[in-house]
Amino acid sequence: MKFFADTADVAEIADLAATGLLDGVTTNPSLIAKSGRSFLEVVKEICGIVDGPVSAEVVATDHATMMKEAAVLRALAPNICIKLPLTIDGLKTCKALTAEGVETNVTLCFSANQALLAAKAGATFVSPFVGRLDDIGHDGMELIQDIRTIYDNYDFKTQILVASVRSPVHVLAAARIGADVATMPPAVIKALAGHALTEKGLAAFLADWAKTGQSIL
Ligand code: E4P
Repeated sequence: MKFFADTADVAEIADLAATGLLDGVTTNPSLIAKSGRSFLEVVKEICGIVDGPVSAEVVATDHATMMKEAAVLRALAPNICIKLPLTIDGLKTCKALTAEGVETNVTLCFSANQALLAAKAGATFVSPFVGRLDDIGHDGMELIQDIRTIYDNYDFKTQILVASVRSPVHVLAAARIGADVATMPPAVIKALAGHALTEKGLAAFLADWAKTGQSIL
C-alpha cells in the first residue's frame, strides 16, 4: 500500500520524505489556500522533494480550459499528476490526458458508478473521499470495498487512492480491503507508528539499559 501526504505544507512533506516512507503527495485548492503560498511555486517545490506523483488540481470546470491548465501544471515537473473533478468535463479531460501519457487523479468520487467512469476514462488514480461520506452518515469504507470489487471484476488498472482519511482506523480498513493508496494528513501518517505499549516497552528497556552502565558507541 502506498502512502501519500495530503498537504501543501512543504516543511511537513520534507520531514515525511526523509523517512523514506512517503510515496507521493496530494494537494487540493483548499490545502493551497491554507498554505498561503503561490500554487505553482509550492507545487513545484513539493515535486522537488518527493520522487512519486504530486497531485495538482485544475480549477476550470470546462474541458478546454482544463486542458490549458493541465498544460501549465505539467510543465512544472515530470512527477506532476493532474487532478481532475469527477464531472463529465473532468472525465473527458482525463481521457485526453491519458491518451497523451499523463498521470491523472480523478477526485471528489462519492459513488461506485463514478469510480467506474473514472476507470473507463483511464485514470491513474481515483480518489473516493471516505471521511466526507462518514460525516453524512454513509459508510465510506463500503464504497472502497465496492470499487475494489468492480475494478477486480474487470481488471481495471486505475489505482484506488483512499482520500479524506481522518484516522489510522481508516488506513487499517482500507489496507484490509486492498486499496492501492491512502492519502493522509501528516498527523495521521505519524499516528500510525504510535502505540502506548511501544512507548512503555521502550522506556523500560532504556531504564534497564542505563542500569548496565554500558554504551554502544
Ligand atoms: C484528497 O485528495 C483530498 O485532498 C482530501 O483527502 C480531502 O480531505 P478532507 O475531506 O479532509 O478535506
